[in-house]
Amino acid sequence: MIDPSDRQIEAASAELRAGNLVAMPTETVYGLAANAWDETAVSKIFEAKGRPATNPLIVHIYDWTFLDQCAEVPLATEIDQAMKQLDAFWPGPLTLILPKSQRISSLVTAGRETVAVRVPRHPVARKLLKSCNFPVAAPSANRSTAVSPTTAQHVDDELGEQVAIILDGGPSELGLESTILDLTESPPRILRHGGVTAESLAKALHLSVDVLTRGTDKGAKTAPSGHRAPGQMKVHYSPRTPVRLQSDWIPVADERVGWIRFHVDTSAEGPEASIVRILSNHGDLTEIARSLFATLRELDQLDLDLIVIDTCEEEGMGRAIMDRIRRASARRDV
Ligand code: TXA
Ligand code: MG
Repeated sequence: MIDPSDRQIEAASAELRAGNLVAMPTETVYGLAANAWDETAVSKIFEAKGRPATNPLIVHIYDWTFLDQCAEVPLATEIDQAMKQLDAFWPGPLTLILPKSQRISSLVTAGRETVAVRVPRHPVARKLLKSCNFPVAAPSANRSTAVSPTTAQHVDDELGEQVAIILDGGPSELGLESTILDLTESPPRILRHGGVTAESLAKALHLSVDVLTRGTDKGAKTAPSGHRAPGQMKVHYSPRTPVRLQSDWIPVADERVGWIRFHVDTSAEGPEASIVRILSNHGDLTEIARSLFATLRELDQLDLDLIVIDTCEEEGMGRAIMDRIRRASARRDV
Protein backbone atom coordinates (compact mmCIF):
# COMPACT_ATOMS: atom_id res chain seq x y z
CA MET A 1 0.00 0.00 0.00
CA ILE A 2 1.15 3.51 -0.81
CA ASP A 3 1.08 5.81 2.20
CA PRO A 4 0.53 9.53 1.69
CA SER A 5 2.52 11.73 4.08
CA ASP A 6 0.93 13.42 7.09
CA ARG A 7 1.30 16.69 5.20
CA GLN A 8 -0.77 15.35 2.31
CA ILE A 9 -3.44 14.13 4.71
CA GLU A 10 -3.48 17.55 6.40
CA ALA A 11 -3.74 19.29 3.02
CA ALA A 12 -6.66 17.02 2.05
CA SER A 13 -8.49 17.68 5.29
CA ALA A 14 -7.92 21.45 4.82
CA GLU A 15 -9.47 21.20 1.33
CA LEU A 16 -12.49 19.41 2.80
CA ARG A 17 -12.79 22.07 5.48
CA ALA A 18 -12.68 24.72 2.75
CA GLY A 19 -15.62 23.06 0.96
CA ASN A 20 -13.69 21.35 -1.82
CA LEU A 21 -13.76 17.76 -3.08
CA VAL A 22 -11.07 15.20 -2.26
CA ALA A 23 -10.65 11.66 -3.57
CA MET A 24 -10.03 9.21 -0.75
CA PRO A 25 -8.93 5.58 -0.94
CA THR A 26 -11.02 3.05 0.96
CA GLU A 27 -10.71 -0.73 1.23
CA THR A 28 -13.65 -1.11 -1.21
CA VAL A 29 -13.26 1.52 -3.96
CA TYR A 30 -12.11 5.17 -4.08
CA GLY A 31 -14.58 7.73 -2.73
CA LEU A 32 -15.32 11.31 -3.79
CA ALA A 33 -15.39 13.09 -0.43
CA ALA A 34 -16.96 16.32 0.82
CA ASN A 35 -17.67 17.78 4.26
CA ALA A 36 -21.13 16.39 5.07
CA TRP A 37 -22.05 19.54 7.06
CA ASP A 38 -21.40 21.79 4.05
CA GLU A 39 -24.33 21.72 1.60
CA THR A 40 -22.44 23.63 -1.07
CA ALA A 41 -19.62 21.11 -0.90
CA VAL A 42 -22.07 18.20 -1.02
CA SER A 43 -23.77 19.66 -4.07
CA LYS A 44 -20.36 19.66 -5.81
CA ILE A 45 -20.35 15.86 -5.51
CA PHE A 46 -23.61 15.55 -7.44
CA GLU A 47 -22.35 17.99 -10.05
CA ALA A 48 -18.96 16.30 -10.52
CA LYS A 49 -20.49 12.84 -10.87
CA GLY A 50 -23.50 13.89 -12.93
CA ARG A 51 -25.47 12.11 -10.22
CA PRO A 52 -29.23 12.57 -9.92
CA ALA A 53 -30.21 14.43 -6.72
CA THR A 54 -32.57 11.52 -5.93
CA ASN A 55 -29.62 9.21 -5.21
CA PRO A 56 -28.44 9.59 -1.57
CA LEU A 57 -24.82 9.52 -0.37
CA ILE A 58 -23.01 7.41 2.22
CA VAL A 59 -21.67 9.32 5.22
CA HIS A 60 -18.23 8.16 6.37
CA ILE A 61 -17.20 8.58 10.01
CA TYR A 62 -14.03 7.83 11.96
CA ASP A 63 -15.72 5.84 14.70
CA TRP A 64 -18.85 5.37 16.77
CA THR A 65 -18.39 8.63 18.62
CA PHE A 66 -19.52 10.46 15.46
CA LEU A 67 -22.60 8.30 15.00
CA ASP A 68 -24.93 10.41 17.14
CA GLN A 69 -24.31 13.41 14.91
CA CYS A 70 -25.56 11.50 11.86
CA ALA A 71 -28.13 8.99 13.06
CA GLU A 72 -30.70 8.60 15.77
CA VAL A 73 -30.56 5.19 17.35
CA PRO A 74 -32.33 5.14 20.71
CA LEU A 75 -30.79 2.73 23.21
CA ALA A 76 -32.24 -0.75 23.67
CA THR A 77 -34.22 -0.65 20.41
CA GLU A 78 -34.13 -3.38 17.78
CA ILE A 79 -31.70 -1.29 15.70
CA ASP A 80 -29.43 -0.69 18.67
CA GLN A 81 -29.36 -4.40 19.36
CA ALA A 82 -28.57 -5.25 15.72
CA MET A 83 -25.73 -2.72 15.72
CA LYS A 84 -24.20 -4.43 18.73
CA GLN A 85 -24.39 -7.77 16.92
CA LEU A 86 -22.61 -6.19 13.94
CA ASP A 87 -19.87 -4.54 15.97
CA ALA A 88 -17.15 -6.82 14.56
CA PHE A 89 -17.75 -5.51 11.02
CA TRP A 90 -16.88 -1.88 11.84
CA PRO A 91 -14.51 -0.52 10.69
CA GLY A 92 -14.99 -2.35 7.40
CA PRO A 93 -16.95 -2.69 4.15
CA LEU A 94 -20.41 -2.54 5.74
CA THR A 95 -22.80 0.42 5.31
CA LEU A 96 -25.79 0.66 7.64
CA ILE A 97 -29.05 2.42 6.82
CA LEU A 98 -30.27 4.13 10.01
CA PRO A 99 -32.86 6.76 10.98
CA LYS A 100 -31.22 10.09 10.17
CA SER A 101 -30.39 12.78 12.71
CA GLN A 102 -31.81 16.29 12.35
CA ARG A 103 -28.36 17.62 11.58
CA ILE A 104 -27.82 15.55 8.40
CA SER A 105 -28.87 17.55 5.37
CA SER A 106 -31.65 16.22 3.18
CA LEU A 107 -29.29 16.85 0.26
CA VAL A 108 -27.10 14.01 1.57
CA THR A 109 -30.04 11.66 2.07
CA ALA A 110 -31.92 12.77 -1.08
CA GLY A 111 -34.88 13.73 1.07
CA ARG A 112 -35.09 10.39 2.90
CA GLU A 113 -35.63 10.01 6.61
CA THR A 114 -32.78 7.49 6.69
CA VAL A 115 -29.02 7.91 6.38
CA ALA A 116 -26.33 5.51 5.12
CA VAL A 117 -23.32 5.38 7.48
CA ARG A 118 -20.02 3.59 7.17
CA VAL A 119 -16.68 3.42 9.03
CA PRO A 120 -14.01 2.51 6.46
CA ARG A 121 -10.98 0.53 7.57
CA HIS A 122 -8.42 1.70 4.99
CA PRO A 123 -5.61 3.35 7.02
CA VAL A 124 -5.50 6.41 4.73
CA ALA A 125 -9.27 6.94 4.94
CA ARG A 126 -9.00 6.55 8.71
CA LYS A 127 -6.21 9.11 8.99
CA LEU A 128 -8.18 11.56 6.85
CA LEU A 129 -11.41 11.07 8.82
CA LYS A 130 -9.53 11.40 12.08
CA SER A 131 -8.04 14.71 11.02
CA CYS A 132 -11.52 16.03 10.12
CA ASN A 133 -13.87 16.89 12.94
CA PHE A 134 -16.87 16.36 10.66
CA PRO A 135 -18.43 13.39 8.84
CA VAL A 136 -17.57 12.99 5.19
CA ALA A 137 -20.13 12.27 2.47
CA ALA A 138 -18.59 10.11 -0.26
CA PRO A 139 -19.99 8.13 -3.16
CA SER A 140 -17.68 6.09 -5.37
CA ALA A 141 -15.41 8.49 -7.29
CA ASN A 142 -16.70 7.77 -10.80
CA ARG A 143 -19.15 9.46 -13.15
CA SER A 144 -22.72 8.31 -12.46
CA THR A 145 -23.45 4.78 -13.85
CA ALA A 146 -19.76 4.22 -14.78
CA VAL A 147 -17.42 1.62 -13.27
CA SER A 148 -16.17 2.39 -9.74
CA PRO A 149 -12.48 3.36 -9.42
CA THR A 150 -10.04 1.06 -7.65
CA THR A 151 -6.87 3.13 -8.17
CA ALA A 152 -5.95 6.81 -7.83
CA GLN A 153 -5.21 6.82 -11.57
CA HIS A 154 -8.81 5.75 -12.35
CA VAL A 155 -10.07 8.76 -10.37
CA ASP A 156 -7.62 11.09 -12.07
CA ASP A 157 -8.67 9.85 -15.53
CA GLU A 158 -12.35 10.47 -14.86
CA LEU A 159 -12.65 13.26 -12.28
CA GLY A 160 -9.14 14.74 -12.08
CA GLU A 161 -10.38 18.22 -12.97
CA GLN A 162 -13.06 18.26 -10.29
CA VAL A 163 -11.06 17.23 -7.22
CA ALA A 164 -8.62 19.36 -5.25
CA ILE A 165 -6.48 16.41 -4.12
CA ILE A 166 -6.40 12.70 -4.88
CA LEU A 167 -4.95 10.74 -1.97
CA ASP A 168 -3.23 7.67 -3.38
CA GLY A 169 -3.62 4.68 -1.07
CA GLY A 170 -2.68 2.06 -3.67
CA PRO A 171 -5.09 -0.33 -5.42
CA SER A 172 -8.25 -1.03 -3.41
CA GLU A 173 -7.97 -4.19 -1.33
CA LEU A 174 -11.51 -5.47 -2.06
CA GLY A 175 -12.32 -3.87 -5.42
CA LEU A 176 -16.11 -3.89 -4.90
CA GLU A 177 -18.25 -1.51 -2.84
CA SER A 178 -19.49 -2.03 0.70
CA THR A 179 -22.49 -4.17 1.55
CA ILE A 180 -25.53 -2.01 2.36
CA LEU A 181 -27.70 -3.31 5.16
CA ASP A 182 -30.99 -1.59 5.97
CA LEU A 183 -31.58 -1.71 9.72
CA THR A 184 -34.70 0.45 9.51
CA GLU A 185 -36.61 -2.52 8.14
CA SER A 186 -37.58 -5.35 10.45
CA PRO A 187 -36.01 -7.81 10.02
CA PRO A 188 -32.96 -6.08 8.47
CA ARG A 189 -32.41 -6.45 4.73
CA ILE A 190 -29.43 -6.26 2.37
CA LEU A 191 -29.94 -3.54 -0.25
CA ARG A 192 -26.61 -4.07 -2.03
CA HIS A 193 -24.25 -7.03 -1.89
CA GLY A 194 -20.63 -6.08 -1.29
CA GLY A 195 -17.50 -6.59 0.77
CA VAL A 196 -19.20 -8.32 3.72
CA THR A 197 -20.99 -11.51 2.68
CA ALA A 198 -24.69 -12.12 3.30
CA GLU A 199 -23.70 -15.37 5.00
CA SER A 200 -21.56 -13.66 7.63
CA LEU A 201 -24.20 -10.99 8.32
CA ALA A 202 -26.90 -13.66 8.63
CA LYS A 203 -24.78 -15.48 11.18
CA ALA A 204 -24.11 -12.36 13.25
CA LEU A 205 -27.80 -11.36 13.24
CA HIS A 206 -29.12 -14.90 13.79
CA LEU A 207 -31.22 -14.66 10.62
CA SER A 208 -31.37 -16.79 7.51
CA VAL A 209 -29.64 -15.63 4.33
CA ASP A 210 -33.01 -15.83 2.54
CA VAL A 211 -34.60 -13.37 4.95
CA LEU A 212 -31.65 -11.00 4.75
CA THR A 213 -31.49 -11.04 0.94
CA ARG A 214 -35.22 -10.95 0.24
CA GLY A 215 -35.79 -8.93 -2.91
CA THR A 216 -32.09 -8.32 -3.67
CA ASP A 217 -30.93 -11.55 -5.26
CA LYS A 218 -30.71 -12.30 -8.98
CA GLY A 219 -30.73 -8.62 -9.86
CA ALA A 220 -33.85 -8.07 -7.75
CA LYS A 221 -36.09 -8.59 -10.77
CA THR A 222 -38.99 -9.54 -8.53
CA ALA A 223 -38.48 -6.85 -5.89
CA PRO A 224 -41.26 -4.32 -5.48
CA SER A 225 -40.09 -0.96 -6.82
CA GLY A 226 -38.54 1.33 -4.25
CA HIS A 227 -37.29 -1.62 -2.22
CA ARG A 228 -33.73 -1.56 -3.48
CA ALA A 229 -31.01 0.98 -2.69
CA PRO A 230 -32.25 3.98 -4.67
CA GLY A 231 -28.99 4.17 -6.63
CA GLN A 232 -29.02 0.54 -7.73
CA MET A 233 -30.05 1.25 -11.29
CA LYS A 234 -30.33 -1.66 -13.63
CA VAL A 235 -27.69 -0.13 -15.89
CA HIS A 236 -24.68 0.58 -13.69
CA TYR A 237 -20.97 -0.22 -13.57
CA SER A 238 -21.21 0.19 -17.29
CA PRO A 239 -18.26 0.63 -19.65
CA ARG A 240 -18.85 2.11 -23.14
CA THR A 241 -18.13 -1.25 -24.78
CA PRO A 242 -21.12 -3.62 -24.73
CA VAL A 243 -20.79 -6.35 -22.07
CA ARG A 244 -22.25 -9.89 -22.21
CA LEU A 245 -22.27 -12.63 -19.62
CA GLN A 246 -20.34 -15.63 -20.92
CA SER A 247 -23.50 -17.75 -20.59
CA ASP A 248 -25.33 -15.39 -23.02
CA TRP A 249 -22.48 -15.07 -25.52
CA ILE A 250 -23.08 -16.13 -29.10
CA PRO A 251 -19.80 -15.59 -30.98
CA VAL A 252 -20.01 -13.69 -34.26
CA ALA A 253 -17.34 -13.85 -36.98
CA ASP A 254 -14.82 -10.97 -37.09
CA GLU A 255 -15.99 -9.52 -33.80
CA ARG A 256 -13.17 -8.20 -31.58
CA VAL A 257 -13.92 -9.70 -28.19
CA GLY A 258 -12.25 -9.23 -24.81
CA TRP A 259 -12.98 -12.11 -22.47
CA ILE A 260 -12.71 -11.71 -18.69
CA ARG A 261 -12.20 -15.20 -17.31
CA PHE A 262 -12.53 -16.19 -13.66
CA HIS A 263 -10.05 -19.09 -13.71
CA VAL A 264 -7.55 -20.92 -15.86
CA ASP A 265 -9.63 -23.56 -17.60
CA THR A 266 -7.48 -25.60 -19.92
CA SER A 267 -10.09 -28.29 -20.51
CA ALA A 268 -12.75 -26.03 -22.02
CA GLU A 269 -12.09 -25.00 -25.60
CA GLY A 270 -13.94 -21.71 -25.60
CA PRO A 271 -14.71 -19.64 -28.69
CA GLU A 272 -11.93 -17.40 -29.99
CA ALA A 273 -11.50 -14.11 -28.19
CA SER A 274 -9.09 -11.41 -29.33
CA ILE A 275 -7.97 -10.70 -25.78
CA VAL A 276 -8.29 -12.81 -22.64
CA ARG A 277 -7.75 -11.63 -19.05
CA ILE A 278 -7.71 -14.23 -16.28
CA LEU A 279 -8.63 -12.80 -12.88
CA SER A 280 -7.72 -15.83 -10.79
CA ASN A 281 -5.92 -19.13 -11.33
CA HIS A 282 -8.45 -21.16 -9.38
CA GLY A 283 -11.62 -19.08 -9.41
CA ASP A 284 -10.90 -17.41 -6.05
CA LEU A 285 -13.79 -14.94 -5.55
CA THR A 286 -11.70 -12.48 -3.52
CA GLU A 287 -9.13 -12.26 -6.32
CA ILE A 288 -11.85 -11.92 -8.96
CA ALA A 289 -13.58 -9.10 -7.03
CA ARG A 290 -10.30 -7.26 -6.54
CA SER A 291 -9.47 -6.88 -10.24
CA LEU A 292 -12.90 -7.01 -11.89
CA PHE A 293 -13.51 -3.23 -12.19
CA ALA A 294 -9.91 -2.44 -13.16
CA THR A 295 -10.04 -5.08 -15.90
CA LEU A 296 -13.37 -3.77 -17.20
CA ARG A 297 -11.81 -0.32 -17.44
CA GLU A 298 -8.70 -1.64 -19.14
CA LEU A 299 -10.63 -3.57 -21.80
CA ASP A 300 -12.95 -0.61 -22.33
CA GLN A 301 -9.93 1.38 -23.59
CA LEU A 302 -9.19 -1.12 -26.37
CA ASP A 303 -11.95 -0.35 -28.86
CA LEU A 304 -13.36 -3.87 -28.70
CA ASP A 305 -16.76 -4.80 -30.13
CA LEU A 306 -17.69 -6.76 -27.03
CA ILE A 307 -16.52 -7.61 -23.51
CA VAL A 308 -17.54 -11.07 -22.32
CA ILE A 309 -17.39 -11.94 -18.60
CA ASP A 310 -17.48 -15.35 -16.94
CA THR A 311 -20.14 -16.00 -14.30
CA CYS A 312 -19.83 -17.59 -10.85
CA GLU A 313 -21.97 -19.17 -8.15
CA GLU A 314 -24.05 -16.65 -6.20
CA GLU A 315 -22.63 -17.46 -2.82
CA GLY A 316 -20.36 -15.44 -0.55
CA MET A 317 -18.59 -12.74 -2.58
CA GLY A 318 -20.12 -14.36 -5.68
CA ARG A 319 -23.37 -12.50 -4.92
CA ALA A 320 -21.70 -9.09 -5.21
CA ILE A 321 -19.69 -10.13 -8.28
CA MET A 322 -22.77 -11.39 -10.13
CA ASP A 323 -24.74 -8.29 -9.13
CA ARG A 324 -22.10 -5.99 -10.65
CA ILE A 325 -21.59 -7.92 -13.86
CA ARG A 326 -25.33 -8.33 -14.40
CA ARG A 327 -25.71 -4.55 -14.18
CA ALA A 328 -22.62 -3.99 -16.35
CA SER A 329 -24.20 -6.19 -19.02
CA ALA A 330 -27.67 -4.62 -18.81
CA ARG A 331 -28.43 -2.91 -22.09
CA ARG A 332 -28.62 0.87 -22.04
CA ASP A 333 -31.66 0.94 -24.28
CA VAL A 334 -33.93 -0.99 -21.90
O1 TXA B 1 -17.86 0.99 -0.66
C1 TXA B 1 -18.63 1.95 -0.72
O2 TXA B 1 -19.74 1.94 -0.19
C2 TXA B 1 -18.13 3.20 -1.47
C3 TXA B 1 -16.97 3.80 -0.69
C4 TXA B 1 -16.48 5.08 -1.31
O3 TXA B 1 -17.37 3.99 0.64
N1 TXA B 1 -19.20 4.12 -1.65
C5 TXA B 1 -20.22 3.90 -2.51
O4 TXA B 1 -21.11 4.97 -2.62
O5 TXA B 1 -20.35 2.87 -3.13
P1 TXA B 1 -22.15 5.09 -3.82
O6 TXA B 1 -22.77 6.43 -3.64
O7 TXA B 1 -21.49 4.81 -5.09
O8 TXA B 1 -23.21 4.01 -3.49
C6 TXA B 1 -24.01 4.18 -2.34
C7 TXA B 1 -25.32 3.50 -2.48
C8 TXA B 1 -26.20 4.12 -3.56
O9 TXA B 1 -26.78 3.08 -4.31
C9 TXA B 1 -27.25 4.87 -2.74
O10 TXA B 1 -28.49 4.91 -3.40
C10 TXA B 1 -27.34 4.00 -1.49
O11 TXA B 1 -26.01 3.67 -1.24
N2 TXA B 1 -27.85 4.78 -0.35
C11 TXA B 1 -27.30 5.88 0.22
N3 TXA B 1 -28.10 6.36 1.20
C12 TXA B 1 -29.16 5.53 1.29
C13 TXA B 1 -30.34 5.48 2.09
N4 TXA B 1 -30.57 6.40 3.03
N5 TXA B 1 -31.22 4.48 1.87
C14 TXA B 1 -30.99 3.54 0.92
N6 TXA B 1 -29.89 3.53 0.11
C15 TXA B 1 -29.00 4.51 0.29
MG1 MG C 1 -21.21 4.17 -6.94
